Amino acid sequence: MAQKEIDELKSECLTCNKCELHAGRHNVVFGVGNPKAKIMFVGEGPGEQEDLQGEPFVGKSGQLLDKYLSLIDLSRDANIYIANIVKCRPPQNRDPKPEEQDTCIEYLRQQVRLIKPRIIVCLGRIAAQKLISPDFRVTAQHGQFTEKGGILFMGTFHPSALLRNESNKPLALEDFQALREKIKEENLI
Ligand code: URA
Repeated sequence: MAQKEIDELKSECLTCNKCELHAGRHNVVFGVGNPKAKIMFVGEGPGEQEDLQGEPFVGKSGQLLDKYLSLIDLSRDANIYIANIVKCRPPQNRDPKPEEQDTCIEYLRQQVRLIKPRIIVCLGRIAAQKLISPDFRVTAQHGQFTEKGGILFMGTFHPSALLRNESNKPLALEDFQALREKIKEENLI
């Protein structure tokens, strides 16, 4: 059963020291949500609040994400799963280094293997470049669905980027509406 295997994977991840990020962490931020979710959201890595609380997207950007989710009847408690490319906070919120991403992505791959989502939404450039294509450009390609290995991937703006540049919020909302349409089309919830 997915929950038991997810719990085992989480226990392993909580003691991980495979890259240098482990040294500065308060908590590993493994992921939250429904292990049977058909829709997964992937960010880049924990920020300060996430590191302190051990949960993804709980700071200001998380509040914005939860608002957008609720507009399309999604919630982390019910029908989605949220995780990150790296599970430990990069110092001063810098981008996770390629080698840190490569080391940590194995945990995400296993999460995806166990959860078996139909849709993965990449929040921001780092997640989209890692999961969709190394040359992914959020401004040009946001909201587009690409199927790989039986999974539909879509990249959109990172909520922190939307807090910095509010003018992209209408575009992000369109992406969430497109997601809602795709969920309906695929009968996912
Ligand atoms: N930004 C991310 O990419 N992930 C989080 O969990 C929080 C902020």
